[in-house]
This record gives sequence, structure tokens and C-alpha cells, in this order.
Amino acid sequence: MTNVLVTGGAGYIGSHACKALSRAGYTPVTYDNLSTGWEDAVRFGPFERGCLTDRARLDQIFAAYQPQAVMHFAALSQVGESMRAPELYWHNNVAGSLSLMQAAVAAGCLDVVFSSTCATYGDQDNVLLDEGCAQHPINAYGASKRAIEDMLRDFEAAYGLRHVIFRYFNVAGADPEAEIGEFHQPETHLIPLMLDAIDGKRNALTIFGTDYDTPDGTCIRDYVHVCDLVQAHVLGLNWLEERRGSRVFNLGTGTGFSVREVIEQSAAVTNRVVPIVEGPRRPGDCARLVSGSTRATVELGWQASRSTLAQMIGDAWRWHQSGHYTK
Ligand SMILES: NC(=O)c1ccc[n+]([C@@H]2O[C@H](COP(=O)([O-])OP(=O)(O)OC[C@H]3O[C@@H](n4cnc5c(N)ncnc54)[C@H](O)[C@@H]3O)[C@@H](O)[C@H]2O)c1
Repeated sequence: MTNVLVTGGAGYIGSHACKALSRAGYTPVTYDNLSTGWEDAVRFGPFERGCLTDRARLDQIFAAYQPQAVMHFAALSQVGESMRAPELYWHNNVAGSLSLMQAAVAAGCLDVVFSSTCATYGDQDNVLLDEGCAQHPINAYGASKRAIEDMLRDFEAAYGLRHVIFRYFNVAGADPEAEIGEFHQPETHLIPLMLDAIDGKRNALTIFGTDYDTPDGTCIRDYVHVCDLVQAHVLGLNWLEERRGSRVFNLGTGTGFSVREVIEQSAAVTNRVVPIVEGPRRPGDCARLVSGSTRATVELGWQASRSTLAQMIGDAWRWHQSGHYTK
């Protein structure tokens, strides 16, 4: 079996990637420091606890498992926190990725699939974003991801490190079998926050900003199902195996939904009332982030087949009701 090193494999998206990799015949080796992840979520291959910044530990892991490729999900990813404490993001995400890339090159593991974000595009309202759009992030989280993208390009030029960069839009939903799902503490993502409010685990869902220049005044985002997203990663890995060259792909559906539309759909799917409170805008949020690209579909053959709002909320709701991870 071919080993793939999955950094952040104990997190939300990384754990779903491990399941998809294992189904595709790979052995996912999770490397995670559990800063925001859960050992309970590591179910599809070996777990190695360690930090990206620990180069000696990484060298040990590369030597022990001889992975064919790295899928690099591990990162801090809260926009608000990144505005309050940018040094955390430059240290964990950028310095951590540097240590990982150096270890990969030293071990001769030259295929990398990297989780980037539409937050690297910044505030480009009323533009459908494609991979050619300029990247002007407006928060330290986005800036840290753009810096890692630059690092990958430099490492390709110097050391032949091949890479597929995926710029995700808003990832939502859960494993349809409810084995794994989204569980962040603290939670900052709209759908799990809303399900908590529906379920009485929090008093209400706060809508951050109702005066944006959008039809109903709330932010518009492009949501993609986590299972569709990780399927693109398996295709990205095949792309690298076929030596088709380094490439950037947006992963979104091209359709945006406002916060109010997501709330309405959640009420319909769960058949419950969503308690809401209207609050001020959050620093670092822009009005509209929607992918305008079909590159992943055309070049990778990717299909976002589960990414309807109803399916994403339905899968998240089933997971939400079936249990959570514990430390
Ligand atoms: N969730 C989204 O909507 C979204 C959107 C765009 C991009 N992304 C990116 O996708 C990736 C995964 O996001 P997620 O939502 O699954 O987050 P998550 O917090 O659930 O997972 C991140 C994992 O990385 C681990 N980690 C963090 N720093 C580490 C370090 N220094 N060493 C080892 N492990 C470390 C955490 O413990 C956690 O298990 C991140 O890179 C994030 O920036 C997510």
C-alpha cells in the first residue's frame, strides 16, 4: 500500500481526506499536534502526534513511512484570531510549512497537495474569482496561505517539488455515514454554529453584519461539501502521479448563498426554528466570495455532486445529532 502523509489528518477536512484516501487504496498517515484536531477522528490509518515546526520529528516520520506524497492540511485557520495575533499564523502556518517542505525535500518526497483558501484573494466584491485573480488577502490567515503558495513555487524551481494547490471556498457538510464530521472548539463556521443554535447548545446564531452590499444585506459565500472537496484531493494526487505539472485549482461550486438563505434552508432541512441575533460586521470579512472557475471540473474531471445546500446541511445535521469527539 502507498503511504500518504496527511498533516492535519485529525482535523475536519483532513479526517475526511483520510477516509477518501483509504477508500482509494492509499494508507493515510496522520501527522497532527491535536491543537485543534481530535485523535478520535483518526480512523483510517496510523496516527503520529507531532508539530509541523518539529523538524527532527518530521525527519523521523518521513524515514519511518517513506510516503509517496504529502497532503498538507495542518494550519490555524480562524480569521479573527489571525487579526488579533498574526504572529501565531506566521509561526504555525508559514514557519511550520517551511519545516515540512524542507523535511519533504530532504526525504525525496516531492509531491505535495496543499490546502489554500479563497481568503488569499481578499476583498474583490462583485467579482467571480478564478485562479488568475490577483491575491490581496485582507487578514493574516490569508496572507499566511499566500506566503506558503509562494514557498511551494520557489521550492519547485529550486528542488523540483511538484504541487497541487487547492483554494477552497467554504467547506461544509460531513461524512454521509456520520463516522466523522466538523467539530471545532471554538466553532466559527456558520452551519455548525447554526445547528448548535437549533439544538439549544447555544442561545442564538449571531449574524455578523446585515448592511453589506448584497441583496439581503448579509455576506454571500460559496459552499462546497467536504466529501466533494476531498475527492478533488484524490484526483490532485493522481494528477501529480501522472506528472502533469504543478497547478492551482479553486474548489467551489460557483453559486453563492447569503447567510439568510443558509438559515432558511437549515430551518427547512431540520424542520426547526433557527434563533438569530443580528450583530455588527466582523473585521476581516468581505461581502461576497464566489468561485468563477471551472478549471477543476475541466482539467481534473471533478464533480461537486453532493454540494447542494440541502445535502450539506442534512449531512452536517446527521453528524451533529450522532455524537462528537472528546479529547
Ligand atoms: N474549513 C474551511 O472552510 C476551510 C476553507 C479554506 C481553507 N481551509 C484550510 O483547510 C485546512 C483544514 O481546515 P479544517 O477546517 O479541517 O481545520 P481543523 O482545525 O479542523 O484542522 C487542522 C488540523 O491541523 C492540526 N494542526 C494545526 N497546526 C498544526 C501544527 N503546527 N502541527 C501539526 N498539526 C497541526 C490541528 O490539530 C487540526 O487537526 C486548513 O489548512 C485550512 O486553512 C479550510
